[in-house]
Amino acid sequence: MNDLLLRALNNEPVERPPAWFFRQAGRYLPEYHVTRAEAGSFLNLCRNPELAAEVTLQPLRRFPFDASIVFNDILVPPAAMGLDLDFIPGRGPVFADPVRHAADLKRLHVPSIEREMPHALDTIRLLVEQLDVPLFGFAGAPFTLAAYMVEGSGSRHFEHAKALMWRDPKTFQRLLDMNAEIVGDYLQAQAEAGAAAVCLFDTWAGELSLEDWRRVALPAARKALSKVSGVPRIYFTKNASPFLHHLHEVGADAFGLDWRVDLKRARQVLGADVPIMGNLDPIALFAPRETIHAKVRAILEDAGPTGHVFNLGHGVIPTTPHEGVDATLEALHAWSWSARAS
Ligand code: CP3
Repeated sequence: MNDLLLRALNNEPVERPPAWFFRQAGRYLPEYHVTRAEAGSFLNLCRNPELAAEVTLQPLRRFPFDASIVFNDILVPPAAMGLDLDFIPGRGPVFADPVRHAADLKRLHVPSIEREMPHALDTIRLLVEQLDVPLFGFAGAPFTLAAYMVEGSGSRHFEHAKALMWRDPKTFQRLLDMNAEIVGDYLQAQAEAGAAAVCLFDTWAGELSLEDWRRVALPAARKALSKVSGVPRIYFTKNASPFLHHLHEVGADAFGLDWRVDLKRARQVLGADVPIMGNLDPIALFAPRETIHAKVRAILEDAGPTGHVFNLGHGVIPTTPHEGVDATLEALHAWSWSARAS
């Protein structure tokens, strides 16, 4: 078993950091399209443990990643809560009837994980039998889920979600409380099914001011993570720079950072013993090989020898050239902390 990931998350010495990519399974791989077509739709794929396990394994057959992440989506729990969800090609996720008023909460219920969303747990159980790298479980953070549930889709400005948060804070808070309860239990269930670590994706929390994030998104993420024990818990948000001084309040064991965060500064602010994950710009995978090598080396230098999990700062995009993935992993595999120390 490749134990680089768990050693890095424990601040133990490693020759080079473990590497995996956000969205390492998915549309940049031709074999993904074949399996997705077999499933019929993206949600069917998430809900079919055999096919979801197959898709999880696909990137590992092509590239020497040191970790895997169960194939699923953060929006599966809101669908199980009662919101009608569709993934529309070219548009992304769409909820037909978003949550906009207090009365809309009556349409939602706290789903039983084993009865109403067991798929990821079954996928994890299938995968742990086959994998020789650790497997991540994950969930969307309460605020990021609420942003989709209120907005009804992805959004540039999040005007519906922010307006509800300010106009009817009680309703927004009830939605966050419900989400926190569900995703906390969901992450714990994934750990119990065999996930070696879990990620809480708060992708859109970085759209908030520091004040709103601390008052609204942070306590909800902390509540969700407080329900998880026994495995390392990673909190990711895009645009975390303004939050660095307060990230420890989330109560996570490690933090995922995007490419706009200066890792040297993150180390200083978070403390040298707090593991970090990141932070290559996913678009750097389109750069020439030598440029990629230089960028990877700069990240390794900035992060330092312990407590670093190498990752992209956000997901692989569908047009990503495979040469870029190869070049990134090549630079990592050529790295040796002990050679540099001597
Ligand atoms: O390999 C992996 O990383 C596991 C798979 C994974 C997916 N979604 C599959 C997916 C993971 C970890 C996610 C998490 C997710 N989903 C997040 C948080 C992390 C992040 O990237 O910020 C968010 C915000 C979502 C919501 C979501 N799901 C969006 C916005 C979209 C559309 C994106 C797009 O580029 O079209 C999805 C759909 C989705 N989730 C796809 C995949 C492979 C594409 C679906 C398809 O096949 O058409």
